[in-house]
Amino acid sequence: MKKFLVSAALLLSMTGLAACGSSSSAPAPSQDQGKQNAAAPAGDQKVIQVGTDAEYPPFEKQEGGKIVGFDVDVLNAVAQAEGMKVNIQHTGWDPLFDGIDKGKVDMGISAITINDDRKKTYDFSDPYFEAKQLILVPKTSTVTKLTDLKGKKIGVQSATTGETVVQQAFGKTYQGIKGYDDTPAAIDDLTNGRVDAVVADNGVVLEYVKKLGGDKFKIVDDPSFKPEYYGMMVKKGNSALVAKINDGLKKIKADGKLDALHKQYFGK
Ligand code: ARG
Repeated sequence: MKKFLVSAALLLSMTGLAACGSSSSAPAPSQDQGKQNAAAPAGDQKVIQVGTDAEYPPFEKQEGGKIVGFDVDVLNAVAQAEGMKVNIQHTGWDPLFDGIDKGKVDMGISAITINDDRKKTYDFSDPYFEAKQLILVPKTSTVTKLTDLKGKKIGVQSATTGETVVQQAFGKTYQGIKGYDDTPAAIDDLTNGRVDAVVADNGVVLEYVKKLGGDKFKIVDDPSFKPEYYGMMVKKGNSALVAKINDGLKKIKADGKLDALHKQYFGK
């Protein structure tokens, strides 16, 4: 049932995408624009189409037909600071990158780590969040560091930095890596015992420990895990949008809004 709901939601958002078909160059048809953004001022101002993989709490998740979370609040604060109209939609993770490539969405906010590999193809805003990888294992696991996972089955979301750190430790062709389209699917398999560990961003791992219960699962850190920084991602060369986002970020950093959101979601 959940699978069906997810694909239905994806389908809806894809049709939404196709119907809007907006890009920085093409004028967008008027119907669906900005529907999700109640605060959007009227007028013919371009609506910035934003993609996300809304299966990544507490950064983004779907709740009662809406996308909510830290990233959404940061996006809306930036948009408000810049008088920008934004429309966020659930694209999924891989389709988000593809959507930016094809101009179906103008930008992505999705706990996206800024790294050199992605910078070859995309441009990023200034960082708005510091993160790192963590390992989630059952409470009974003997794992105390990344290398202890050797020979074990490790769940990761495909094409994320969680996958990268596991590949760096055990090689790209390591048989034990199980890639998933979204992180909750990897966590599901951990709770079912189909994988021995999940490697993902700290904010998400902490959220799931809260949800699953600290008596059943524990978190393992590793000294090899480096700080990562989230940025909003646009098509390479869209410097106008990056400049606007950065200006907005500067404002919400200066007026304490970003700190307040950080406190609200992460308590520090
Ligand atoms: N920070 C990691 C990366 O950029 C994982 C992000 C996954 N985000 C999501 N919404 N699923 O690779």
